[in-house]
Amino acid sequence: HTHIHTHTLTCDLNIMNSWSPEALVRKSQEAKEQAYCPYSKFRVGAAVLTSDGTVFTGCNVENACYTAGLCAERTAISKAVSEGHKSFKAIAIASDLEDRFISPCGACRQFMREFGSQWDVYMSKSDGSYKLMTVKELLPCSFGPDDLRLHSSYPSEKVASYTSYYQKVASYTETTFSLFF
Ligand code: THU
Repeated sequence: HTHIHTHTLTCDLNIMNSWSPEALVRKSQEAKEQAYCPYSKFRVGAAVLTSDGTVFTGCNVENACYTAGLCAERTAISKAVSEGHKSFKAIAIASDLEDRFISPCGACRQFMREFGSQWDVYMSKSDGSYKLMTVKELLPCSFGPDDLRLHSSYPSEKVASYTSYYQKVASYTETTFSLFF
């Protein structure tokens, strides 16, 4: 891998025309600084690299309702997808753990897998050293978007009844709209 282009160092544009795992890990460490984790006090940062070279970062965002909290990886990926980026080359993850590579949780692995299995996950230690695995290695035998296309065994009467239900909803919505506009 070649080193990060000087341009990306002097400007604040999150674009990596040429990149290195080290530079992506560094971005994830910077993102970790924004971690909102008053409950676990476990800071995590992530930086996802899209195939056009754009980097989206994320941190964990916890909540007083604990289960509503978000992981850093899903924050970063959601930022990318919501800006129109769905093709990924790599994601780097950082935490404050000194002697362990930070490993993404099961939900985050599934979230990554939605956008392909053959891309890279750099799991880092606080000193910036990293372990590389693909999404497929982290989540073998996975369930993905293609599996949903094979639902031909779904009972046809249910398809029909749902269709008429949605037609009713649609005609109701039209009626409501015509009352107001
Ligand atoms: N967390 C992440 O953000 N990513 C990981 O890979 C592991 C766990 C967060 C979730 C929660 O805010 C805190 O770390 C403790 O689990």
